[in-house]
Amino acid sequence: MIKVQSLSHDFEIGRKGNKTIIPMLRDISFEVKQGEIVTIVGRSGSGKSTLLNLISGFIHPKEGEILINNKNVTKLSETKFADFRIEHIGFIFQSFQLIPSMTAFQNVELPLILKGVNEADRKKTTEEILTTVGLIDYKDHYPGELSGGQQQRVSIARALIVNPPVILADEPTGSLDSETEQELLQFIKNLNMELGITFLIITHDQRVAEIGNRTIELRDGRIYSPELSTKQEVLL
Ligand SMILES: Nc1ncnc2c1ncn2[C@@H]1O[C@H](COP(=O)(O)OP(=O)(O)O)[C@@H](O)[C@H]1O
Ligand SMILES: [Mg+2]
Repeated sequence: MIKVQSLSHDFEIGRKGNKTIIPMLRDISFEVKQGEIVTIVGRSGSGKSTLLNLISGFIHPKEGEILINNKNVTKLSETKFADFRIEHIGFIFQSFQLIPSMTAFQNVELPLILKGVNEADRKKTTEEILTTVGLIDYKDHYPGELSGGQQQRVSIARALIVNPPVILADEPTGSLDSETEQELLQFIKNLNMELGITFLIITHDQRVAEIGNRTIELRDGRIYSPELSTKQEVLL
């Protein structure tokens, strides 16, 4: 589903003549298989969001390769990656990223509009997905009229609507209280078990990381594996 091979990335700061290179990720290799929930855990600043941005094609790696659904996306152009993303990756963010002036229905429907799906099919699919996430009765509510947990379920519905092979989540429970967090994690687990949705979830919270079938720890820009101190590679 996702294969990351020997990925390395640096950030350059400053202007010409006075550039500083900040090493960020080093030799990252791992795989997410279909039907898995893989969690990536690491302290704040350990490069988790950077890794997700690389996998999503928002930034390009200095070295290494990324395969999504067996397609090597590392060298895709900006526009090709944007097209690829719509069909193949669902996103969930800590801050939900819903459009406040649009209802739950309109937020969830949006990816289908971008994909050029006709109105009748959009309505049918959007209502089906809102039913799946238990929010059909809230379809005409605006984000501001929904609780945090409900807003995150709207954003999960929006991520699910194009039927992507994988959903990438960056701190998906970071804005929720601990009770709602547990509910949302259970909801993600159910989607995984009942619909076989694959998730790659990033978190700084060890308890959230525990919902994964597998957890990968980032430390100092590398994958930390206690049993492999010389060879930084996760055994699959
Ligand atoms: N575009 C950038 N240029 C320079 N530094 C960056 C850039 N993006 C992120 N960083 C730095 O990289 C570090 C890791 O960031 P991030 O991947 O967001 O970590 P995490 O998600 O694990 O908290 C942070 O110290 C951040 O300031
Ligand atoms: Mg982050």
